[in-house]
Order: sequence, then C-alpha cells, then structure tokens
Amino acid sequence: MTARIIDGKTIAQQVRAEWKVRADALKARGITPGLAVIIVGEDPASKVYVANKVKACAELGLHSEHIMLSADIPEANLLARIAELNNDTKIHGILVQLPVPKHIDSNKVLEAINPDKDVDGFHPENVGALVTGNMRFAPCTPYGAMVLLEKCGISIEGKHAVVVGRSNIVGKPMALMLLQANATVTICTSKTQDLAKFTRDADILVVATGKPKMITGNMIKPGAAVIDVGINRLPDGKLCGDVDFDSAKEVAGWITPVPGGVGPMTITMLVANTVRAAERISGFGK
Ligand code: GUN
Repeated sequence: MTARIIDGKTIAQQVRAEWKVRADALKARGITPGLAVIIVGEDPASKVYVANKVKACAELGLHSEHIMLSADIPEANLLARIAELNNDTKIHGILVQLPVPKHIDSNKVLEAINPDKDVDGFHPENVGALVTGNMRFAPCTPYGAMVLLEKCGISIEGKHAVVVGRSNIVGKPMALMLLQANATVTICTSKTQDLAKFTRDADILVVATGKPKMITGNMIKPGAAVIDVGINRLPDGKLCGDVDFDSAKEVAGWITPVPGGVGPMTITMLVANTVRAAERISGFGK
C-alpha cells in the first residue's frame, strides 16, 4: 500500500480562504483583526516561525506587530509590555514565542496574557476550557492537525488515537482534542516501554517527539492515518519529521509530509484564532 499524502499546503490555503471571509466581514464593520507576536532573543528557528506568522497575517489583510525584545530583557519589562498589549484596542491576539530565555518564568508570561487575546490557548483558563470540553482557543498545532483529519474525511469517533509526545504545546492538547472528538486516546512518551506495541494499534497516530525518523513503517498499523508534527534538520541540511516517511508511507493509509504537512496549518490556525478573538472581543463572535 502507498499512503495518500495529506497536503497541508493546499489544505492550509483552503482554510485561510474560509477565514478570510470572516476577517473581511469584520473589516467591513471597521474592525481589522490584529496580532502581536513577541519574540525574546535571537533563536534562529523562532525567528523563522515568527516571520512566517507575520507574513500569513499580511496575506489575509490582518494587522500584525512583530515585537523583538533582547534576550536579557528583565521579566518585569516583558510582563509590562504584555500588559500594554492587553489594553491595546488594535490588538486582538497576543503570542509570545516559546521558548523564552531561562531567566524568564514562562508560566508567568502565559498567565499575563489576557485570556480573551490568548490565541495560542496556553493561558491556564483556556487550558481549563479545553480540558472541560468548552474550548475557546485551541492551541494552533493540534488544532491544525484536527482540521487536516477533518478535511481529509478521516473519521475520529470510536477510533484508537495514539499521541506520542506530551508537551503542553502539542501532545497534551492534541490528546484532549481527540478525546473530545470521541476517540479512544493513548498518550505515549519517550519513556514508554515497547512503544511499537502502542503505535501499531493506532488508527490515528500523531507524533510530536522532536526525534528525527523515530517512527518507522514497522511501527505503524496498515491503513492508519499518520500525522507527523516533527520538524528536524538533518546534518545534510534537509528537513525531516519524527516519522520515517519512506518506510511509513508504504504501510499507512494517510500521511503528512515534512515539510508541507502540519507546519502550514499551525500558522493558518493562528490566523484563524486571531480572527476569532477579534470577533469575540468586538461582540460579533460566533
Ligand atoms: N514554539 C513552538 N511552537 C509554538 C507555538 O505554537 N506557540 C508559541 N507561542 N511558541 C511556540
């Protein structure tokens, strides 16, 4: 079997067009959705992600502010900057790119963001809303993965979904969203004994470990949908996922490539959350 490729680039364009309609409706009422992205320090990967986020906003005609702060900024100054953005009526979404430098407490930073502008969905209030099934802002990467499954017509209800990875950014919210969609969910970690025993039983396998090509074809159930959240740079400069694409595609029913799978969706869902935040704040929310 050769898997069908889940084309994240094409699906992201479709989804962006859907959200552009909503953004344009707000603009017709005089409200331009605005996103502020804060980056602290010089991490090259973070800089690329942030530049792509700002570009996607521009494509949809959103207002965006790219705030670059030096790596040694005192925590109090960062919190003060967030407080300013909380009160800025041009800004509906605030994102602080993670990780932040070690002298800054990331929990304090995430808690400082007004939950109504928390387009990452990382504020404890929004995490709580996700846990209780009243999701307000879904974290962008798992949200993007869910939309990919939906757009490909891959049913979730009653299926066994296995998530490998338990980060707050991807693994945990992914598991909760799959659970909310009535999957039976197993969460595995790097410490899971006999990982293949679990992955081989997955109808839907989501991998977010940061370990290049760790899931190989022999660890996949024939016909499974495989969502690869990893993006790793190999010594030869090429990008690869956490799944060994070449062996996996011979077994899986569906698979996301890297690049061009989940990545474009993450940014799309950030734009979507910003539009939604603007709708909610301005009272035109759905
Ligand atoms: N770093 C890696 N992924 C993300 C994300 O989705 N949001 C933020 N804020 N930082 C990240």
